[in-house]
Amino acid sequence: MNETPLLTVSGLSAGYGAGRMIADVSFSLCPGEILCLVGESGCGKSTVLKSVMGTTPGLEILSGEIVLNGQDLLRLPPRERRRIACDTFGMVFQSPGAAFNPIRSYRKQFAETLKSHGKYDRETFETRVAEAFEKMGLADVPRILSCCPYEMSGGMNQRIALALALLLEQDILLADEPTSALDATIQRQVAEELRRLRDVSGMAQIIVTHNLALAQFLADRVGVMYAGRLVELGTPDQVLGDPRHPYSRALIAAIPTLRGDMPRGLAGQPPLSGPADAGCEFCERCPVRENGCTERPYALSSAGGGHWTACDRTGGGI
Ligand SMILES: Nc1ncnc2c1ncn2[C@@H]1O[C@H](COP(=O)(O)OP(=O)(O)OP(=O)(O)O)[C@@H](O)[C@H]1O
Ligand SMILES: [Mg+2]
Repeated sequence: MNETPLLTVSGLSAGYGAGRMIADVSFSLCPGEILCLVGESGCGKSTVLKSVMGTTPGLEILSGEIVLNGQDLLRLPPRERRRIACDTFGMVFQSPGAAFNPIRSYRKQFAETLKSHGKYDRETFETRVAEAFEKMGLADVPRILSCCPYEMSGGMNQRIALALALLLEQDILLADEPTSALDATIQRQVAEELRRLRDVSGMAQIIVTHNLALAQFLADRVGVMYAGRLVELGTPDQVLGDPRHPYSRALIAAIPTLRGDMPRGLAGQPPLSGPADAGCEFCERCPVRENGCTERPYALSSAGGGHWTACDRTGGGI
């Protein structure tokens, strides 16, 4: 893998209106690399993706840098930033319907989007769309193309949005829970397709998921988010196989298995007010907290070999 990052996010803080919802988020993405972001609901995963994409109304970047190919996107005039983002990033939204106008046929929407990216060719349109649909496990292309998104199930819309991302062949795919509405068999096919996309076209990807097994299967690196901060980052073997942060360990312990009792889960809720200025946000729920945890400033420390964690306390039954 080429080690010069394509995208470097440094010290990124962002929020909606008055509230800061993510803080000090830093990571890099090399060409062809797949980064999976995991963490409980409300931890800021979608906000990170939307901040990188830069097209969400009401989302304000408070500080930090988003450097793409050596250029800080946040220093560009908004229109220029939007143009570069639309050329570079393919975005698959958390709500599968959000990518499309619900009452306009897929045929029209696919043609328009491909045209706006200079990738439309009338002769090959149907064949190329059929290939992309097939990769996402979708049959009967003419019928789907003549339908409107409101006529499709959530899982079908999700795959159609991914098929469009395949056709646009951008450098970086930002996909927010791209398999959440899919059943287990098709999830596997879509995950394999995302991996193949990386292998064949070198498309780098940031994938948000609640599914740790998907992250293990897909990711080159996994980032665990809690209350708007990245609390652990490393390879899947490091983060999911040898987790250091008490929150990562608790998250893994909460995974239900097919045979066996439902796990106890993790008591309490993440704070909804976003990251605090000082102190570990997880300490209220943490079984290994100490007195100093409420004041310790946030920082990632190296656990060796590219594995980073904001805490490495052990014990407490997790
Ligand atoms: N448009 C918005 N306006 C105000 N607050 C928002 C908005 N979108 C998200 N938030 C808040 O920002 C915080 C982070 O939300 P975000 O959607 O990034 O979480 P998430 O990790 O993607 O959660 P989930 O797993 O449920 O999708 C939450 O507290 C949420 O309420
Ligand atoms: Mg989300």
